Amino acid sequence: MRTAVIGTGHVGLVTAGGLARWGHTVIGMDDDASKIAKLEAGGLPFFEPGLNDLVNEGVEAGRLTFTTDLEVALKDCDVAFVCVGTPGLPGGGPNLAYVERVGVEAARLATGDLVLVEKSTVPANTGVRLAQVIAREQARHGKTHNIQVASNPEFLKEGTAVQDTLFPDRVVIGSAVPEAGETLRAVYEPMLKEHGCPVVMADLQTAELIKHASNAFLATKISFINQVALICDEVGADVTTVAQGMGLDERIGQQFLRAGIGYGGSCFPKDVNAFIHLAQSIGEDFHILEAVRDVNVRMREVVIERLRQELWHLEGKTVTLLGAAFKPGTDDLREAPAMHLAKTLMAAGVKVRIFDPVAIDHVKNQLPDVECFTDVHASLRDADAAVVCTEWDEVKALTPADFAEGLGYPIVVDGRNVFDPEAMRAAGLRYTSIGRPKPKD
Ligand code: UDX
Repeated sequence: MRTAVIGTGHVGLVTAGGLARWGHTVIGMDDDASKIAKLEAGGLPFFEPGLNDLVNEGVEAGRLTFTTDLEVALKDCDVAFVCVGTPGLPGGGPNLAYVERVGVEAARLATGDLVLVEKSTVPANTGVRLAQVIAREQARHGKTHNIQVASNPEFLKEGTAVQDTLFPDRVVIGSAVPEAGETLRAVYEPMLKEHGCPVVMADLQTAELIKHASNAFLATKISFINQVALICDEVGADVTTVAQGMGLDERIGQQFLRAGIGYGGSCFPKDVNAFIHLAQSIGEDFHILEAVRDVNVRMREVVIERLRQELWHLEGKTVTLLGAAFKPGTDDLREAPAMHLAKTLMAAGVKVRIFDPVAIDHVKNQLPDVECFTDVHASLRDADAAVVCTEWDEVKALTPADFAEGLGYPIVVDGRNVFDPEAMRAAGLRYTSIGRPKPKD
């Protein structure tokens, strides 16, 4: 099939690579000429393991090309995936202006029948609104092509995006008319034949809700275990074992029960806000999700409280944040707990150092006053305290002796429960983690 991918961010590029792998012709389109230039030169606009190879494989096979021109992308196109940004607005809802614009342009530029697929995370009913916009624009321009809107939410995780796309747990397809759903299913047929996974066929609104509910539920699992961790801290229980004991119940499962300084990234914070906003807009209060968001903010405060407890006055102290990216395997700093912490600490007069093996150039750009390191040992030298923010391999490889010998004061707050408390304390460190028994004073 002839396909187009509009927006070459994380979701768009992985989708484009996957479509090319499955034998389709793909044109990746983006307004940002510098992004397209980089892609045409064989590079990637961001870091994602395995993606460069997947994209280059498609390019070398002659199936994947790039353009900044939407007209070129939509010429003779059967299926176009809308992967443009939907950034959060101050009120909590997402900005859908880019999505709408694609609808307006597609109505004018489509040269034949087209299935326009929502891939970006969008609130329920966006598909219906998009279909209305397209119908209005077609009437304005006297166009009569059959353009159908479909929803095909993406569930990829940054860092494992290629695997998640090539071998998904499920494919969700939503459409108002069955033919559009079937066309979309045919796009996935080569992957389904080889890999096989359940396909959920639904209407537009249901497919949109599946994405909302999935991300909100995962975020809920994290905040739930974090709230349990705060209670563990007070009663002297160990949250890691609590999570293990809970997760062995098949109905609960082991995943997404790692307590720590909370979730970040481009999806969970924005999607939780968007779901709360959607509920409010129809007169429902989504109290559970409001609590999920509050607990996530609280986890960062807990780190600051721990530092105050150990250091007393923060002003003038030097604190090393180990890891900046919102999780290992990505250079993405969006809503990263470490970046929030850095800003709060700097506002309190702390000299902040950050170690990150991949995202450090972005840190330099965003926080020029932070001292940046790609050498984890150098980042610890003579600092007054260290906070583990991202469980990078370089961080996990540190020994208790590395901390004890490197740091000026032997204070470690482990926001990802990476280290063994006994071993850390045996090395003479003042070590606290999240939801695991604290040292007795
Ligand atoms: C997430 C969803 O997993 C994915 O399905 C969706 O398409 C996009 O949002 P992503 O943002 O890439 O993917 O990251 P994910 O691996 O899910 O982690 C999100 C955050 O939760 C990270 O900051 C991570 O550190 C945190 N996390 C995850 C925890 O704090 N504890 C856990 O147990 C799991």
